[in-house]
Amino acid sequence: MVEQVRKLLEKRLSNVTDLEDIRQSILQRRDPNKLCISVCAGTGCRASGAEAVVDAFMDEIERRELQINVELKETGCHGFCERGPVVVIRPKRVFYQRVKPEDIPEIISETILNGNIIERLLYVDPVTNEKIVYEPDVPFYKRQTRTIFGANGEIDPTNIEDYIAMGGYSALSKALFQMSPEDVIGEVKRSGLRGRGGGGFPTGRKWESCRDTKGDTKYVICNADEGDPGAYQDRSLLEGNPHSVLEGMVIGAHAIGSHEGYIYVRNEYPLAVRHARIALEQAMDYGLLGEDILGSGFDFTVTINKGGGAFVCGESSALMTSLEGKIGEPRAKYTHMSEKGLWDSPSLLNNVKTWANVPLIINKGAEWYSQIGTAGSKGTMIFSLVGKINNTGLVEVPMGITLREMIYDIGGGIPNGKKFKAVQTGGPSGGCIPEQHLDTPVDYDELNKLGSMMGSGGMIVMDEDTCMVDIAKYFIDFLKGESCGKCIPCREGLTRMSEVLNKIAQGKGKREDLGILEDLAGILSDGALCALGRTAANPVLSTLHYFRDEYIAHIDEKRCPAGVCRELIQYSIDPERCEGCLRCLRACPTSAISGEKRQLHTINQGMCIKCGACYDVCKFNAVVKQ
Ligand SMILES: Cc1cc2nc3c(=O)[nH]c(=O)nc-3n(C[C@H](O)[C@H](O)[C@H](O)COP(=O)(O)O)c2cc1C
Ligand code: FES
Repeated sequence: MVEQVRKLLEKRLSNVTDLEDIRQSILQRRDPNKLCISVCAGTGCRASGAEAVVDAFMDEIERRELQINVELKETGCHGFCERGPVVVIRPKRVFYQRVKPEDIPEIISETILNGNIIERLLYVDPVTNEKIVYEPDVPFYKRQTRTIFGANGEIDPTNIEDYIAMGGYSALSKALFQMSPEDVIGEVKRSGLRGRGGGGFPTGRKWESCRDTKGDTKYVICNADEGDPGAYQDRSLLEGNPHSVLEGMVIGAHAIGSHEGYIYVRNEYPLAVRHARIALEQAMDYGLLGEDILGSGFDFTVTINKGGGAFVCGESSALMTSLEGKIGEPRAKYTHMSEKGLWDSPSLLNNVKTWANVPLIINKGAEWYSQIGTAGSKGTMIFSLVGKINNTGLVEVPMGITLREMIYDIGGGIPNGKKFKAVQTGGPSGGCIPEQHLDTPVDYDELNKLGSMMGSGGMIVMDEDTCMVDIAKYFIDFLKGESCGKCIPCREGLTRMSEVLNKIAQGKGKREDLGILEDLAGILSDGALCALGRTAANPVLSTLHYFRDEYIAHIDEKRCPAGVCRELIQYSIDPERCEGCLRCLRACPTSAISGEKRQLHTINQGMCIKCGACYDVCKFNAVVKQ
């Protein structure tokens, strides 16, 4: 059988039967009941020591000569990175979290050889305190619908055979041999898929416009620039399942008549670049990319291009300018990029997640796909759920799930008994949504109605200790720093907004500043060259709309209700509670605290820099923040 595979590969896959033969031969070589240890080796788990865990497993498996009976697989991100390194033992899917190299001999002797569960490595539900054994029962995973992201935990992204074994590239063969390009575009249109990169533009319509535009050369581009603070879903998908993205791109290229593609990937994503590169090489070797793909006569190549290192390079026109080798600045889009994009040729740009949806739609059909989601937003969306929430990580959910379900059922609620305050969706240009809208179904249109947006899937949860003026200031300062400066509304508008917000946060604001912020927001949205500037005011407008009283407290009462804005808070020591333990005195970086052991301590307000170190270390709640 191995010889048969080798022979097939020597002549590359040259038709659909070859692909199916390869798949069958891979499946025959695999035993679905064989124990498989999947160690997450995504960037998050690597940061918490996954490579050492893999090494320890290798050593132990070799030492006990278990290679024949046990498979070790390094997979991409499983989504629950906060609990990393994550290990899943299949087929039963025993879920171990925060695994260390020293746990490995016990995992092998207890779980692998004797089927026993190691309690201390299990996930404990923070709400019920229940220990959970199997991955699908972990609340974080239970409410998810992992149509795009699920394979991440099952395949080795550096082994194309894993992807083919799961039916990978069968959508490509279907698109090449059983469908016309028009059929493919029709299927994508009917599915209702909308771009997952931010704007939510209908994908099929974009493809159709690109196909209908005349041009000898057309380009297909994958946008993997992902510059939103806190977002990492595109990285995890490209790292963990690069072939799903690649397959989508080849299908798209064939549909619009393109022979040249690019993956524009953020420079700071070395593992995604590495895995995408390996995927390209393997797909070339297998005849799934390059000349005469699967013997269809269709040629398509893909080049990886590392991003220019700026948030704005993710914007379509800036990305294409950067791909041309120029400074990644946006340009006025009098015509769509699908008609006049890279080197002025028709160019089809889609986000990583958008591309990964395509094989699914082609394989399972538009009817199946469009049953998931809401009337205007079909399919699932991968969010990075972060911030003040018990379970942080990447979650894939059907469009239409409510914010409350995401935050409480999947995210496990707010830690430390704190109260929920707002959730920020849509990346830096998104808006902050308050508690009264938690039952809103999450889709493109509903989020827009609330003054926020879907964006690329960022979701930051904030608790009662978050100051909304500070949040608006943070995002405006981020966007100010990332504005390319080419157009005046964005360059000057964001600078002025930042000045006004800083004034308010320092207690120097006036009531009329709120009107100035609103005027600037109007100028930005009407006059900025690209969507960075046009949407930049959302964090200010949404916080002004839902949390105006907090702005007023900063202005009228010179008070920060959440106790965050440094200039407006003061730390003092409660004489009734102070035990004179010296902890705060030792923690103070400016020696602003004086006092003897077992005697009342005091803070010199002139020397205090309001860092809060004393407040954090006091065990007697004697440091008071006002
Ligand atoms: C400032 C800015 C940054 C953007 N960054 C990204 C990004 O990192 N990834 C992405 O897919 N889209 C990004 N977009 C959206 C792209 O311009 C474009 O709409 C998208 O890549 C199209 O793909 P889609 O239709 O699949 O969403 C950004 C837009 C703006 C205005
Ligand atoms: S990197 Fe391991 S779960 Fe995300």
